[in-house]
Amino acid sequence: MTTKIIMDTDPGIDDAAALTMAINAPELDLKLVTAVAGNVTVDKTTANALKIVHFFGKDIPVAAGAEQPLIKPFEDAARVHGESGMPGYDFGEDYGKPIDKTAVEALHDAIMAEDEVILVPTGSYTNIALLFSQYPEVKSHIKKIVAMGGSISGGNMTSAAEFNVFTDPDAARIMYNAGIPIVMVGLDVTLKALLTKDTIAKLATLNETGKMLNGLITHYNDGTDEGRPMHDVNTIFYLLHPEAFTTKKMWIDVQTEGPAIGCTVGDVRGAYHDGKTNAEVCVDIDADAFNKWFIERVAEMD
Ligand code: BDR
Ligand code: CA
Repeated sequence: MTTKIIMDTDPGIDDAAALTMAINAPELDLKLVTAVAGNVTVDKTTANALKIVHFFGKDIPVAAGAEQPLIKPFEDAARVHGESGMPGYDFGEDYGKPIDKTAVEALHDAIMAEDEVILVPTGSYTNIALLFSQYPEVKSHIKKIVAMGGSISGGNMTSAAEFNVFTDPDAARIMYNAGIPIVMVGLDVTLKALLTKDTIAKLATLNETGKMLNGLITHYNDGTDEGRPMHDVNTIFYLLHPEAFTTKKMWIDVQTEGPAIGCTVGDVRGAYHDGKTNAEVCVDIDADAFNKWFIERVAEMD
């Protein structure tokens, strides 16, 4: 039995790697990819999602979504992911087109067609907030959300905020208050599971997929000399290997204004919500297992 998933994404180099791992995982059935403005503008994130789907010759629909956050002005992360969002590999010009539906319409139709689906957002949550506002009936068909974003230990955009939540904090608040189980795959784990220099170099020796990923990752302006955080890939690793993570249930509140805008405040001590929780937060990860899994999976791809 495969697990049906939908990815909402803003490729973005680590998003491209997450799509690569999801598309090629025999345990997963990727039904739809929707794109959102984030790392770069939505025309580029849509094109980049199409490039990855086309690279693997798959017939997975890609829909274009929100051009900007709900309220906050849009700020990209081209300084991290390059002007195109996916530099370092030539995907050619022939990579198809998005389907003729908005992301919200495509999400609605794809989710309602299933009894149960897992939503995997790896960009800001604008499309998802719009979906829940317009079509609340989809919620009962979503088993859980496994989302990259947030942190209970400091940010990468400001001292308090992680990029995906910082980009659209109002959307993040809607998602966290939707009443759907959420696994928060945030900086608390993604900054621990660096893809090491050795793993990155080895990719180029494996096959064309490895060369493609090596090309992208060596153009990725995130991380240190020791390695690169492949934030979004951790969502797929979690889906396949939850045993590699330590999690803690808590309530997550999202700050939508002021100096901590975009901060995900984890009620670690249960001080404010009468013991209720709205998220399972990943707090630790087996980084060696992540590197091993990544390289072994890519080695199996063509
Ligand atoms: C997140 O921000 C983006 O730049 C990455 O693609 C990832 O989703 C990490 O903070
Ligand atoms: Ca992303």
